[in-house]
Amino acid sequence: MKNILITGGTGYIGSHTCLALLKRGFNLTIIDSNINSSSLSISRVKKILKDEYYDEKIVFFKGDIRDKKFLDEIFLNSIKQNNRIQGVIHFAGLKAVSESLFQPLVYWENNVYGSICLFEIMGKYDCKNIVFSSSASIYKNNSLKPILETSEIKPCTPYGQTKVAIENILEGIFKTSSNSWRIANLRYFNPIGAHESGLIGENPLSTPNNLFPIVCRVADGSICELQIFGNDWPTNDGTPVRDYIHIMDLAEAHCAGLDFLFKNKPQFINLNVGTGIGTSVLELVNKFMEVNNCRIPYKYSQKRLGDLPFVVAENKLITSILEWRPKRNIEQMCRDGWQWQKNNPNGF
Ligand code: NAD
Ligand code: UFG
Repeated sequence: MKNILITGGTGYIGSHTCLALLKRGFNLTIIDSNINSSSLSISRVKKILKDEYYDEKIVFFKGDIRDKKFLDEIFLNSIKQNNRIQGVIHFAGLKAVSESLFQPLVYWENNVYGSICLFEIMGKYDCKNIVFSSSASIYKNNSLKPILETSEIKPCTPYGQTKVAIENILEGIFKTSSNSWRIANLRYFNPIGAHESGLIGENPLSTPNNLFPIVCRVADGSICELQIFGNDWPTNDGTPVRDYIHIMDLAEAHCAGLDFLFKNKPQFINLNVGTGIGTSVLELVNKFMEVNNCRIPYKYSQKRLGDLPFVVAENKLITSILEWRPKRNIEQMCRDGWQWQKNNPNGF
């Protein structure tokens, strides 16, 4: 079976994707600096799979993608052990949008320079298949219409700019290498929730900034009140609308993306990964309270800088090209996310 390198594989999306890939039989080489995660997520993944058979299918190396010597050794070893890395899913990166406004250089250096190091070593070892974690934050959407892959790209934060830069670098690599690479940029919308076992989930090491982990912490009492950023947006109930996607649906999109790349001719493709369904902040909060039978005290406060009213995917391209469609609804996202939080109030 193919060996896939997962950068950032102990993080939120990475750990769920590792689980989905192992179930499909892939061998995994995981690397992570653990700057925003714990490698305990790997033991939890193994616990979910409940089978010693999987122990041999995962190797983990703690390290940084900006360390080319470290990357080189990993690729070289995989060849020596007759388990050559044939593809990469590249999650490793810093992702706090607001932090990137204050520390742009840190984001450019970690995300963009780190990616350059990775792509260079991949090229050296003739590993030319990659799925990259891009983001809906690259789009400039001021309308109330779903976003297409061809919609205007105009990120308003350094975080989003690093994602565009990495996509552009990959496009350059594709065009200048006689089109020999297979590259899929998956542009995620808003992943939330957790695996249904409640054993793995989102584990932000610093104070969370995103809505869902904050809602979970208000539900368990560790944050006293949710602030909803604005109630006069041009949406049905005045609060912003997002396309929330269950983390396991997102994880499965990576498996489908890899299968697609391996089965088809070399290409460079951008795909939105969302459900196509919009949910407002207020709808999410109400659904969470209803499904989990709990209280989420909230108050309206000022709009957050750079927020947009409506960020929902047009997902026709991905559902027509990949053997994938989102299966889990907002109720399941709320139920699974809360189960993780209840069982693991302090993370891993
Ligand atoms: P995460 O922080 O849980 O995972 C990222 C992982 O990368 C972490 O485990 C971190 O320790 C590791 N990492 C960071 N820099 C590294 C480096 N230089 N070398 C090695 N490891 C490094 O975040 P996530 O939510 O799982 O996001 C994964 C990817 O998806 C990120 O690239 C993020 O930008 C992107 N993304 C996330 C969202 C979201 O809402 N979660 C939305 C769009 C895109
Ligand atoms: N929100 C609140 N109160 C909070 C936190 C958030 O009202 O305490 C609102 C925001 O105003 C926004 C919505 O909840 O309208 C969702 O906010 P998030 O911070 O959870 O998510 P964003 O849509 O702003 O951004 C997220 C990720 C990005 C990613 C993007 C893709 O943080 O990395 O989704 O759409 F690129």
